[in-house]
Amino acid sequence: MRRPSSGLTLVVLLLSVLDLTSAVKHGDFKTCAQSGFCRRNRALAEEATAAGPAWTSPYELETESVKLDQGVLTGTIWKTVAEKDGGRVELPLQISFLDDGVARVTIDEAKRQKGEIKLRGDSKARKERYKEAEKWVLVGGKNIFANAKLESRDQESRVSYGFGDFQVVLQHKPFKLTFLRNGEPHIVLNERNFMNIEHWRPKREQEGEEGEDESTWWDETFGGNTDSKPRGPESLAMDITFPGYEFVYGIPEHASSLALKETRGGEGNYEDPYRLYNSDVFEYEVNSPMTLYGSIPFMQAQKAGSTIGVFWLNAAETWVDIVKSQKNPKALSTEKRSTHTHWMSESGVLDVFILPGPNSAHLYSQYGALTGYTALPPEFSIAYHQCRWNYISQDDVKDVDRKFDKFDIPYDVIWLDIEYTDNKKYFTWDPLTFSDPISMQNQLAERERKLVAIIDPHIRNEGSYPVSKEMNEKGLATKDKSGEKSYEGWCWPGSSHWIDAFNPAAVAWWKNLFDIKKFPSATKNLHIWNDMNEPSVFNGPETTMPKDNIHHGNWEHRDVHNLNGMTFHNATYEGMVARLGKGNEKRPFVLTRSFFAGSQRTAAMWTGDNQADWSHLSQAFPMILSQGIAGMPFAGADVGGFFGNPSKELFARWYQAGAFYPFFRGHAHIDSKRREPYLYEEPYRSIVRDAIRLRYSLLPIWYSAFQRASFEGMPIIRPHFVMFPDDEAGFAIDDQFFVGDSGLLAKPVVKEGAESVDIYIPDDEPYYNYFDQTVYKGKGYKKIPAPLDTVPLLMRGGHIFPRKDRHRRSSGLMKHDPYTLVVNLNNNGVAGGVLYVDDGETFDNQKGAYVHRSFMFNRKALICGNLHLEPSKAEAYEKTMEDVRVEKVLLVGVGDEWLDKKTAKVTLGEKNWEVEVSVTKGRRGKANVAVVRDPKAPITQDWQIEF
Ligand SMILES: *[C@@H]1O[C@H](CO)[C@@H](O)[C@H](O)[C@H]1NC(C)=O
Repeated sequence: MRRPSSGLTLVVLLLSVLDLTSAVKHGDFKTCAQSGFCRRNRALAEEATAAGPAWTSPYELETESVKLDQGVLTGTIWKTVAEKDGGRVELPLQISFLDDGVARVTIDEAKRQKGEIKLRGDSKARKERYKEAEKWVLVGGKNIFANAKLESRDQESRVSYGFGDFQVVLQHKPFKLTFLRNGEPHIVLNERNFMNIEHWRPKREQEGEEGEDESTWWDETFGGNTDSKPRGPESLAMDITFPGYEFVYGIPEHASSLALKETRGGEGNYEDPYRLYNSDVFEYEVNSPMTLYGSIPFMQAQKAGSTIGVFWLNAAETWVDIVKSQKNPKALSTEKRSTHTHWMSESGVLDVFILPGPNSAHLYSQYGALTGYTALPPEFSIAYHQCRWNYISQDDVKDVDRKFDKFDIPYDVIWLDIEYTDNKKYFTWDPLTFSDPISMQNQLAERERKLVAIIDPHIRNEGSYPVSKEMNEKGLATKDKSGEKSYEGWCWPGSSHWIDAFNPAAVAWWKNLFDIKKFPSATKNLHIWNDMNEPSVFNGPETTMPKDNIHHGNWEHRDVHNLNGMTFHNATYEGMVARLGKGNEKRPFVLTRSFFAGSQRTAAMWTGDNQADWSHLSQAFPMILSQGIAGMPFAGADVGGFFGNPSKELFARWYQAGAFYPFFRGHAHIDSKRREPYLYEEPYRSIVRDAIRLRYSLLPIWYSAFQRASFEGMPIIRPHFVMFPDDEAGFAIDDQFFVGDSGLLAKPVVKEGAESVDIYIPDDEPYYNYFDQTVYKGKGYKKIPAPLDTVPLLMRGGHIFPRKDRHRRSSGLMKHDPYTLVVNLNNNGVAGGVLYVDDGETFDNQKGAYVHRSFMFNRKALICGNLHLEPSKAEAYEKTMEDVRVEKVLLVGVGDEWLDKKTAKVTLGEKNWEVEVSVTKGRRGKANVAVVRDPKAPITQDWQIEF
């Protein structure tokens, strides 16, 4: 959460907190035209476009320089510049060919690389272009494909590589790269000649000598803050074309559609590029390319039957323009448009990964191999979270906890926002309102519930506060532009300093603060929320740190800005893993607001400070789906809306939607009315309770989906284009989605007054209504009823999913509850599914302590088999689960010949026994349903039920 504007005085702060009706303050954040390097690069693009074929790109790859050695191509690109600047600039090129057909292109600048530049002023900043982003981001996938072959080297060079048919063609003059798969071009770099590497040059004393507009080269002022630029202009840009691909996705975080829009104007398009510059945007608006709290510079392009992706590894401020080629009116109607993108970053080296796909599953595992997969979260954290700013005292917390029980509403976690601290000093508790945090945590623990408390990166500037004292004495705070003094700014506690989590010594120190013996009144049930880590600085430029601040290693904040949040939440995570001592590690839960590529390895995210209105409810799914595309699927939005007071209808609909967010948390601003679900009158209370119960009942599906995401990077909730990559008609759909591999297709209501929704059925399988088994069949839109108490939810024929039908007070209390298996028959009368389960809290799963089951139904029998890769390692854990059984099987869509079936036979090893079956004839469009009662089939063993 945060307050508005970059006003300095407390009065301004207070006034703006109360001003809840206004929208985002556009003037607080730059447009492209207000950002020097974005404006310069867009101008270049316009000039190149206007000139057409007459344009000459100044970049040329020297033929003789091209070498390929052990899977790495090197060469020299020369940029032609004015004679007085030396005539040409040397830019070393490297292309590494990696496993999986991934190629990595980097371009540096020789002069800066060698430090042969003069910094302006007495700056302590580094002279090189920043290339350490990989240190924080990449965890693997860098194995070189040593067998890459240089096929030719003449006007152009050609390299073939990888275990598929991959080639890259390097055009030397002007420099251009075309990546081919099976002989077809899929990605082209510098096709439009927008490539631009701003080379170093000394500042000229006489203005305007070159006729270029130098006004933003040496310093830049915005909103009263001046950014000194000791290295001068150093932006880098590249145009990337996806020939024949009409759809692109990714590059979160934006409050925009899943399918990215064009950004160069025109009806329905944006005027500004998508911006990636992690920022605390107060009262952000929907349908906007404006930057938000986190960024992941990963983009996926999709056309029927083919996927491809790029990962632009750069942590500086970045803008991305998107346009699509126009259809030739005379061409065949099947002609595909191409998508042209233009990537512009303020500093650093050019470093871009070409990920070949060819389908989403491959693409996500290629990206995951590089940046890591989402952590398998502790199981409680995928259940329901209750938050508000603020639960004001331990008695308040205890009371809310009891009320949830009184009204039979399950929940797992209650949260404390900033007010629990003593004067916004983290690692302290307010002595009056939270005098006994341990007894409060103990009450929660009685029902296996947890507490999450907020810990932010701004440290109150107060001499007697030990955290502040230690940090400053040890020199662990981010420095101002002098490189010597701790940077001081304004945040919740007033005057503050910021931990520099780029410094390994700062990380080690920070980690230690979470030690259970050090953190006052923390129990093992306490987990952490990292907010404000963009970082948010109330009086800083664009509400963040000055770009010329200095981090560990003398890197300017400019170079690392988008990494800042990740280094911080990662340090928190590491501390939380270590806090109980060696051998007692438990999976921590850490929520972060700011993130970058790689954040998925240690944290969940939420979409920040949304508003209690319908537009924000409908904006949430596209945002959460985008997170999944970009490898960070543990995502949610504040249920109910942060600012303002939702109507009862909106509140109910938001819980129905929230039950389908991978991260499911109700949250509210300090000025909003109390809105714990039990406070609502009927029928709203029951509607919300049912939505939460639905989530709990389906937790086995969610957890199994997280397990797959943690190995393969498949999103938790999956949009149409991921599931049906040949069906272009659905590529823009972002208001309905599938949940994991369960075959559940949800389209929660996000519009006021809706009585039904039109759901897009993507194929010819039967889709059964989850609640009444009505069958929907045939590709295309179908109207399904959605009165206020109903969330539109279909089950696709062909899938089996496990669920738990007993209502409990928390997920921890459900651990040993029996399962119901729902078998949804497809057109051929068959179905399949999986279940993954482990202890949900330790890392023993990494040593094999888990149950992984497959279910197959083949018309005659339901067969439960083992998917565990090393079954012997599961034995000890299986022992703890041996009493957990399947207590019911529902077979949806059985034929009329089933109607007189009365029994079935269960076989387990040598033993077998008979069970009762009852079959109900489906009437008025509903499917026949067979129910097997208590087959006593243990979840840890192989068995089958024959019908
Ligand atoms: C996360 O922390 C670990 C251990 O301190 C460190 O090795 C790693 O580089 C960190 N990653 C990020 C992204 O900060």
